[in-house]
Amino acid sequence: MVSDLFHRQIGRDDFEWLAAPATAKRARIQLHWDGRDLGFHKRKSHDLVPIEACPAAESALSAAIAPLRAALISRALPSRPGRWEVATGTPPGEVRASCEAGVWKLEAGAWHLDRSPLIHRLAGASLRQPAGGFFQVSPAWAAEAFGSVLANWDLRGATLFDLYGGVGLFSALLRERFTRFVLVESGEAAVDAARMNLADLGLAAECTVADVGTWLPEGLGSSDDAILLDPPRTGLAVEAVEKLLTANAGRMVLVGCDGAAFCRDLKRLDSAWKTVQLAALDLFPLTPHIEAIALLERR
Ligand SMILES: C[S@@+](CC[C@H](N)C(=O)[O-])C[C@H]1O[C@@H](n2cnc3c(N)ncnc32)[C@H](O)[C@@H]1O
Repeated sequence: MVSDLFHRQIGRDDFEWLAAPATAKRARIQLHWDGRDLGFHKRKSHDLVPIEACPAAESALSAAIAPLRAALISRALPSRPGRWEVATGTPPGEVRASCEAGVWKLEAGAWHLDRSPLIHRLAGASLRQPAGGFFQVSPAWAAEAFGSVLANWDLRGATLFDLYGGVGLFSALLRERFTRFVLVESGEAAVDAARMNLADLGLAAECTVADVGTWLPEGLGSSDDAILLDPPRTGLAVEAVEKLLTANAGRMVLVGCDGAAFCRDLKRLDSAWKTVQLAALDLFPLTPHIEAIALLERR
């Protein structure tokens, strides 16, 4: 699937493939509660398939499904039909369940309102993730895979612009390779966490709450800087691409969890940015989804 996508969309047959190890499990899953039962949606449908466990997830999450169902049935948790996210940290341990109404922590089989963040200890860093907010699906494996690809590409320089930066995973992974970090992210809670995460690592980091397309100036950076972009599935907004075409940074990394949007963005950037390296990472084990990543150089 990946070969076919890269070949047809961007005419590239040279990419690195990083297969997931059997130990890579999901640290968050989304469940649906229909007012009577809890489970996944059947593929391409809203029919509920009740589940007891998820083999793709950490066992701590599977173990939380029965207590979550029991609390919803007994109305100890808000029982309005809707979506629930169940998540754990790295290494897996504490479990949080969140819906629109709040976040609860599982303790001794019961759920307690709790707004404290989940903690991910990976790559020598300790990163807070506000529960219910974004973090990599399989965090330890994602850190290992991204870390190895970026080390092979020898990404380093003066300033790293960590755009769509979340709670600072990429700045943390590249902390020894740049001297200054500028993180831009639209989620306020994520930026608060990123400030603390990067300060704990002793990094000179500016973390800003903003829409990347609006924030991006003309002519960003200089030749010794790198721009790393990890947008949501929809990829880069047209206004972001327009500004990036004028950027002065020497290198750019584009990350994308939707292969089609990722290839579209590489093509839109191509007049100013040459794709020099390409990789696909199996970051969503046991699903057909992949993470694509490319290294681009200023033409
Ligand atoms: C795929 S996640 C990547 C997060 C981070 N790089 C990581 O690996 O943990 C995309 C992030 O972009 C943020 N985001 C979505 N749209 C945005 C926008 N228009 N401007 C800035 N950030 C945005 C989301 O809140 C989310 O944290």
